[in-house]
Amino acid sequence: SSKYLKAKVASNEKIAEGIYRMVVEGDYSANPGQFYMLRAWGVEPFLSRPISIHGITDAGIEFLYEVRGTGTEIFSKLKAGDELELLGPVGNGFDLETIKGKVAVVVGGIGIAPMYEVMKHIKDSTVDFYAGFRDEVYSVDYMKEYADNVIISTESGSVGHKGYVVEQLDASKYDYILSCGPTPMMKVVKEMGEKVGTPVYVSLESHMACGVGACLGCTCNTKKGKERVCKEGPVFLGEDVSL
Ligand code: FES
Repeated sequence: SSKYLKAKVASNEKIAEGIYRMVVEGDYSANPGQFYMLRAWGVEPFLSRPISIHGITDAGIEFLYEVRGTGTEIFSKLKAGDELELLGPVGNGFDLETIKGKVAVVVGGIGIAPMYEVMKHIKDSTVDFYAGFRDEVYSVDYMKEYADNVIISTESGSVGHKGYVVEQLDASKYDYILSCGPTPMMKVVKEMGEKVGTPVYVSLESHMACGVGACLGCTCNTKKGKERVCKEGPVFLGEDVSL
Protein backbone atom coordinates (compact mmCIF):
# COMPACT_ATOMS: atom_id res chain seq x y z
CA SER A 1 0.00 0.00 0.00
CA SER A 2 1.24 3.51 -0.64
CA LYS A 3 -0.84 5.16 2.05
CA TYR A 4 0.59 6.74 5.16
CA LEU A 5 -0.98 5.57 8.40
CA LYS A 6 -1.03 7.54 11.61
CA ALA A 7 0.42 5.96 14.73
CA LYS A 8 1.44 7.00 18.22
CA VAL A 9 4.90 7.10 19.67
CA ALA A 10 5.18 4.79 22.71
CA SER A 11 8.70 5.90 23.66
CA ASN A 12 11.66 7.68 22.17
CA GLU A 13 14.96 7.53 24.01
CA LYS A 14 18.43 8.81 23.35
CA ILE A 15 20.73 5.80 23.67
CA ALA A 16 24.02 7.31 22.51
CA GLU A 17 25.26 10.64 21.18
CA GLY A 18 22.97 11.43 18.24
CA ILE A 19 21.35 7.98 18.32
CA TYR A 20 17.73 7.39 19.34
CA ARG A 21 15.50 4.37 19.78
CA MET A 22 11.82 4.98 19.15
CA VAL A 23 8.93 2.57 19.66
CA VAL A 24 5.75 3.22 17.68
CA GLU A 25 2.50 1.60 18.80
CA GLY A 26 0.58 -0.84 16.65
CA ASP A 27 0.59 -4.28 15.06
CA TYR A 28 3.28 -4.75 12.47
CA SER A 29 4.63 -7.49 10.32
CA ALA A 30 7.50 -7.21 7.90
CA ASN A 31 10.41 -9.11 6.43
CA PRO A 32 13.67 -8.47 8.26
CA GLY A 33 15.60 -5.85 6.28
CA GLN A 34 12.56 -3.92 5.08
CA PHE A 35 12.01 -0.34 6.17
CA TYR A 36 9.36 2.32 6.69
CA MET A 37 9.02 5.83 5.40
CA LEU A 38 8.35 8.06 8.41
CA ARG A 39 7.08 11.61 8.69
CA ALA A 40 6.11 13.77 11.58
CA TRP A 41 5.33 17.10 10.01
CA GLY A 42 3.02 18.77 7.49
CA VAL A 43 3.05 17.89 3.82
CA GLU A 44 5.70 20.43 2.80
CA PRO A 45 8.55 21.18 2.67
CA PHE A 46 10.09 18.05 4.07
CA LEU A 47 10.41 14.65 2.52
CA SER A 48 9.70 11.56 4.54
CA ARG A 49 12.67 9.68 5.89
CA PRO A 50 13.43 6.03 5.22
CA ILE A 51 14.12 4.32 8.55
CA SER A 52 14.92 0.64 8.78
CA ILE A 53 13.01 -1.66 11.08
CA HIS A 54 15.04 -2.33 14.20
CA GLY A 55 12.63 -4.71 15.87
CA ILE A 56 9.02 -5.80 15.99
CA THR A 57 7.61 -6.65 19.41
CA ASP A 58 4.23 -6.89 21.12
CA ALA A 59 4.59 -3.24 22.08
CA GLY A 60 4.93 -2.13 18.46
CA ILE A 61 7.75 -1.40 16.06
CA GLU A 62 11.19 -0.15 17.06
CA PHE A 63 13.28 2.23 15.01
CA LEU A 64 16.92 2.95 15.78
CA TYR A 65 18.07 6.10 14.00
CA GLU A 66 20.81 8.66 13.83
CA VAL A 67 20.08 12.37 13.87
CA ARG A 68 21.53 13.70 10.63
CA GLY A 69 19.35 16.59 9.55
CA THR A 70 16.07 18.38 9.95
CA GLY A 71 13.83 15.32 9.57
CA THR A 72 15.59 13.06 12.04
CA GLU A 73 16.04 16.05 14.37
CA ILE A 74 12.25 16.37 14.44
CA PHE A 75 11.90 12.64 15.17
CA SER A 76 14.31 12.96 18.07
CA LYS A 77 12.01 15.50 19.76
CA LEU A 78 8.92 13.27 19.65
CA LYS A 79 7.50 12.20 22.99
CA ALA A 80 5.28 9.33 24.08
CA GLY A 81 1.77 10.02 22.81
CA ASP A 82 2.88 12.17 19.85
CA GLU A 83 1.65 11.20 16.44
CA LEU A 84 3.62 10.37 13.33
CA GLU A 85 2.85 8.86 9.98
CA LEU A 86 4.31 5.68 8.52
CA LEU A 87 4.32 4.07 5.12
CA GLY A 88 5.42 0.50 4.81
CA PRO A 89 6.91 -1.95 5.17
CA VAL A 90 8.68 -1.15 1.90
CA GLY A 91 11.52 -2.68 -0.05
CA ASN A 92 12.90 -6.19 -0.10
CA GLY A 93 14.51 -7.62 3.00
CA PHE A 94 16.95 -10.48 3.42
CA ASP A 95 16.08 -13.89 2.04
CA LEU A 96 16.45 -15.72 5.33
CA GLU A 97 15.29 -19.03 3.82
CA THR A 98 18.62 -19.32 1.99
CA ILE A 99 20.90 -17.61 4.51
CA LYS A 100 22.00 -20.50 6.71
CA GLY A 101 25.09 -22.15 8.08
CA LYS A 102 28.00 -20.05 9.29
CA VAL A 103 26.80 -16.48 8.99
CA ALA A 104 28.69 -13.24 9.64
CA VAL A 105 26.73 -10.05 10.24
CA VAL A 106 29.02 -7.05 9.71
CA VAL A 107 27.83 -3.58 10.65
CA GLY A 108 29.26 -0.10 11.00
CA GLY A 109 27.66 2.61 13.12
CA ILE A 110 23.93 3.04 12.60
CA GLY A 111 24.12 0.17 10.06
CA ILE A 112 23.45 -1.90 13.16
CA ALA A 113 19.79 -0.82 13.01
CA PRO A 114 18.22 -3.44 10.71
CA MET A 115 20.28 -6.33 12.03
CA TYR A 116 18.48 -6.88 15.33
CA GLU A 117 15.32 -8.07 13.60
CA VAL A 118 17.44 -9.89 11.00
CA MET A 119 19.51 -11.86 13.54
CA LYS A 120 16.35 -12.73 15.45
CA HIS A 121 15.14 -14.59 12.34
CA ILE A 122 18.29 -16.41 11.25
CA LYS A 123 17.60 -20.04 12.16
CA ASP A 124 19.74 -23.17 12.41
CA SER A 125 22.92 -21.18 11.97
CA THR A 126 25.95 -19.90 13.78
CA VAL A 127 25.93 -16.11 13.78
CA ASP A 128 29.09 -14.07 14.35
CA PHE A 129 28.23 -10.43 14.85
CA TYR A 130 30.92 -7.89 13.93
CA ALA A 131 30.09 -4.36 15.02
CA GLY A 132 32.23 -1.31 14.34
CA PHE A 133 31.80 2.14 15.85
CA ARG A 134 33.74 5.37 15.80
CA ASP A 135 33.91 5.58 19.60
CA GLU A 136 30.67 5.06 21.51
CA VAL A 137 29.20 1.54 21.39
CA TYR A 138 25.42 1.13 21.45
CA SER A 139 22.73 -1.55 21.13
CA VAL A 140 25.23 -4.39 21.17
CA ASP A 141 24.16 -5.54 24.66
CA TYR A 142 20.68 -6.69 23.75
CA MET A 143 21.71 -7.85 20.28
CA LYS A 144 24.03 -10.40 21.88
CA GLU A 145 20.94 -12.49 22.52
CA TYR A 146 20.86 -13.52 18.85
CA ALA A 147 24.60 -13.85 18.17
CA ASP A 148 26.93 -16.73 18.99
CA ASN A 149 29.97 -14.44 18.98
CA VAL A 150 30.23 -10.68 19.22
CA ILE A 151 33.33 -8.93 17.89
CA ILE A 152 33.53 -5.20 18.54
CA SER A 153 35.85 -2.66 16.94
CA THR A 154 36.12 1.05 17.61
CA GLU A 155 38.21 3.54 15.68
CA SER A 156 39.11 5.27 18.94
CA GLY A 157 39.99 2.02 20.70
CA SER A 158 37.51 2.75 23.52
CA VAL A 159 36.05 -0.78 23.27
CA GLY A 160 37.33 -3.92 21.59
CA HIS A 161 39.72 -3.94 18.64
CA LYS A 162 41.17 -0.51 17.82
CA GLY A 163 40.55 0.03 14.13
CA TYR A 164 38.04 -0.95 11.48
CA VAL A 165 35.51 -3.75 11.78
CA VAL A 166 36.70 -5.39 8.53
CA GLU A 167 40.16 -5.96 10.00
CA GLN A 168 38.61 -8.61 12.24
CA LEU A 169 36.80 -10.45 9.46
CA ASP A 170 37.98 -13.59 7.67
CA ALA A 171 35.38 -13.98 4.91
CA SER A 172 36.54 -17.51 4.05
CA LYS A 173 35.12 -18.81 7.37
CA TYR A 174 31.53 -18.09 6.36
CA ASP A 175 28.75 -19.42 4.15
CA TYR A 176 27.06 -16.01 4.05
CA ILE A 177 27.90 -12.47 5.07
CA LEU A 178 25.28 -9.77 5.71
CA SER A 179 26.44 -6.19 5.89
CA CYS A 180 25.04 -2.76 6.60
CA GLY A 181 26.94 0.43 7.25
CA PRO A 182 28.95 3.12 5.49
CA THR A 183 29.42 2.42 1.77
CA PRO A 184 33.24 2.24 1.93
CA MET A 185 32.91 -0.46 4.60
CA MET A 186 30.36 -2.49 2.63
CA LYS A 187 32.55 -2.19 -0.46
CA VAL A 188 35.44 -3.80 1.42
CA VAL A 189 33.18 -6.56 2.79
CA LYS A 190 31.79 -7.23 -0.69
CA GLU A 191 35.31 -7.49 -2.15
CA MET A 192 36.46 -9.76 0.68
CA GLY A 193 33.54 -12.07 -0.04
CA GLU A 194 34.18 -12.06 -3.79
CA LYS A 195 37.80 -13.05 -3.26
CA VAL A 196 36.87 -16.23 -1.43
CA GLY A 197 33.50 -16.99 -3.02
CA THR A 198 31.34 -16.15 0.02
CA PRO A 199 28.04 -14.47 -0.95
CA VAL A 200 27.68 -11.04 0.68
CA TYR A 201 24.33 -9.32 1.03
CA VAL A 202 24.48 -5.57 1.50
CA SER A 203 21.71 -3.32 2.74
CA LEU A 204 22.08 0.02 0.99
CA GLU A 205 21.12 3.43 2.14
CA SER A 206 19.97 6.11 -0.25
CA HIS A 207 18.30 9.47 -0.26
CA MET A 208 14.66 8.79 -0.98
CA ALA A 209 11.73 10.93 -1.91
CA CYS A 210 8.77 8.62 -2.49
CA GLY A 211 9.99 5.32 -1.05
CA VAL A 212 7.65 3.34 -3.27
CA GLY A 213 9.48 3.12 -6.58
CA ALA A 214 7.82 6.06 -8.29
CA CYS A 215 10.33 8.91 -8.35
CA LEU A 216 13.56 7.10 -9.37
CA GLY A 217 15.39 9.28 -6.88
CA CYS A 218 17.16 6.36 -5.24
CA THR A 219 18.69 4.32 -8.07
CA CYS A 220 21.94 2.40 -7.86
CA ASN A 221 23.94 0.62 -10.58
CA THR A 222 23.53 -3.14 -10.74
CA LYS A 223 24.36 -5.91 -13.20
CA LYS A 224 20.79 -5.63 -14.45
CA GLY A 225 21.07 -1.87 -14.96
CA LYS A 226 19.72 0.83 -12.70
CA GLU A 227 17.62 -0.43 -9.83
CA ARG A 228 15.74 1.37 -7.09
CA VAL A 229 17.08 1.02 -3.55
CA CYS A 230 13.55 1.51 -2.19
CA LYS A 231 11.92 -1.13 -4.40
CA GLU A 232 14.38 -3.77 -5.65
CA GLY A 233 16.52 -3.09 -2.56
CA PRO A 234 17.54 -2.04 -0.02
CA VAL A 235 19.12 -5.51 0.19
CA PHE A 236 21.23 -6.57 -2.80
CA LEU A 237 23.64 -9.39 -3.46
CA GLY A 238 27.00 -7.62 -3.26
CA GLU A 239 28.33 -9.00 -6.53
CA ASP A 240 25.28 -7.63 -8.38
CA VAL A 241 25.74 -4.05 -7.29
CA SER A 242 28.43 -1.38 -7.82
CA LEU A 243 29.38 0.41 -4.65
FE1 FES B 1 11.33 7.16 -5.16
FE2 FES B 1 12.99 5.11 -4.63
S1 FES B 1 12.61 6.87 -3.44
S2 FES B 1 11.87 5.50 -6.45
